[in-house]
Amino acid sequence: MLDNSRLRIAMQKSGRLSDESKKLLAQCGVKINLQEQRLIAFAENMPIDILRVRDDDIPGLVIDGVVDIGIVGENVLEEEVLDRRAEGENPQYKTLRRLDFGGCRLSIAAPRDFVYSGPECLNNLRIATTYPHLLRRYFSQYNVNFKTCLLNGSVEVAPRAGLADVICDLVSSGATLEANGLQEIEVIYKSKACLIQREGEMSPTKQALIDKVMTRIQGVIQARE
Ligand code: PRP
Ligand code: ZN
Ligand code: MG
Repeated sequence: MLDNSRLRIAMQKSGRLSDESKKLLAQCGVKINLQEQRLIAFAENMPIDILRVRDDDIPGLVIDGVVDIGIVGENVLEEEVLDRRAEGENPQYKTLRRLDFGGCRLSIAAPRDFVYSGPECLNNLRIATTYPHLLRRYFSQYNVNFKTCLLNGSVEVAPRAGLADVICDLVSSGATLEANGLQEIEVIYKSKACLIQREGEMSPTKQALIDKVMTRIQGVIQARE
């Protein structure tokens, strides 16, 4: 079991946010020896444990109070919150701050020859996505119906594979869309990485450590601006 008196931080094991998350902690003076296969890492110079997990699991770990802090994309956070609300839960967490990396957009993309004339022309199409709740919230403004094809990865393959008409997925450089013959037709959500904290009391020592790390993060981000 992990020592509960140590501050527990969840971050992405591998993916778009992992290098920048590691770098941020390192620049704040948190010394961690990250070994590729180790999913838990202990800071050498501060009472901090790092859990390295899938980005999609981080919001739930914070909301459920399994970890104290998470570094996560607003896109997965918002989707998890909407998902839990749809299940009748009232998910709670605190946003400590927005970070200066992990910028991306959640967009609808269609095959290159698709003629787009606005959200209404997507009515009744099948849309492949990992983000059904964000997509539903977007279309609820337009009275547009859609069918979903839920995929956890390689969403861009769906139109060519005949699984869906269009997709809704994250776009950062646009290279993945380009490589798969797709064009971005609508941005539905803009996201960055953020730092979130679980609800509930922290021990005074944990709170003091959070305050110290937050002050350092503030300094690091300001210095990069
Ligand atoms: C995202 C997204 C796309 C890709 C887009 O995946 O799902 O596949 O990045 O990036 P590009 O526009 O620069 O080509 P990501 O690596 O974030 O991982 P995940 O969806 O598996 O969490
Ligand atoms: Zn993911
Ligand atoms: Mg992906």
